[in-house]
Amino acid sequence: MTSVLFACSSSNMQVNTPPETSKTIMNDSITKTMKVLLLNGSPNKEGCTFTALSEVAKALNENGIETEIIQIGSEAIRGCIACAKCRETGVCIFDDLVNEVAEKAKTADGFIFGSPVYYSGINGTMKSFLDRLFYSGSRHLAYKPGAGVVSARRAGTVAAWQQLNMYFTINNMPVVSSQYWNMVHGNTPDEVRQDKEGLQIMRTLGNNMAWLLKSIEAGKEAGVERPKQEPRERTNFIR
Ligand SMILES: Cc1cc2nc3c(=O)[nH]c(=O)nc-3n(C[C@H](O)[C@H](O)[C@H](O)COP(=O)(O)O)c2cc1C
Repeated sequence: MTSVLFACSSSNMQVNTPPETSKTIMNDSITKTMKVLLLNGSPNKEGCTFTALSEVAKALNENGIETEIIQIGSEAIRGCIACAKCRETGVCIFDDLVNEVAEKAKTADGFIFGSPVYYSGINGTMKSFLDRLFYSGSRHLAYKPGAGVVSARRAGTVAAWQQLNMYFTINNMPVVSSQYWNMVHGNTPDEVRQDKEGLQIMRTLGNNMAWLLKSIEAGKEAGVERPKQEPRERTNFIR
């Protein structure tokens, strides 16, 4: 099944809408069209990370899920300055792509974070972006499924992938898994395309996320509510 690609307001964003008929793939009782935001932390707009994210997006589209790939890594995204103004205003004091994505996150149903591996971690721009997105807007992502995807020439993938998983697991987000840890290998998109196992891991991830999204939606329609949160305990050091 092919997906429809159409232009959107910002050059940072690429939206894929599954064809109308794709809704019929879903359980008849689930009528909501769901959407997953895929963030590309790499400065290479159509590089290795993008190639991996595109494979996840394709699988999601084939399951009737709308996707949008948002280009993060080529922007000048500064880090969090711990001013805590977002605690008062609900948005980051630096009004850039972070606030734009936080706004989109309100209506999104799931998230894939993609990053190239830089010195065995995620790249700096992605780190700055995610720190500010979660510090100012984590409530918009909470209880929605997420998964990280990393691309490396050779090594450091697991450490970088774990770094991405930390954002989900501090924020009540179900983490979607695949048949292996979510990584591709290559220094160019062509090399990534030769990583057949890596691409299969991406497709499995997309299928698994679609399954979880539909299960959550079916649960909602059957009256299953989000768990109630206890008043927050904050123990800053061990007494
Ligand atoms: C500053 C920098 C650091 C890198 N560090 C690593 C590393 O630790 N391990 C590795 O295997 N590749 C490393 N690489 C290579 C990239 O992770 C790899 O080429 C990746 O697939 C590029 O993805 P992209 O095309 O989406 O940018 C590094 C590249 C750069 C520019």
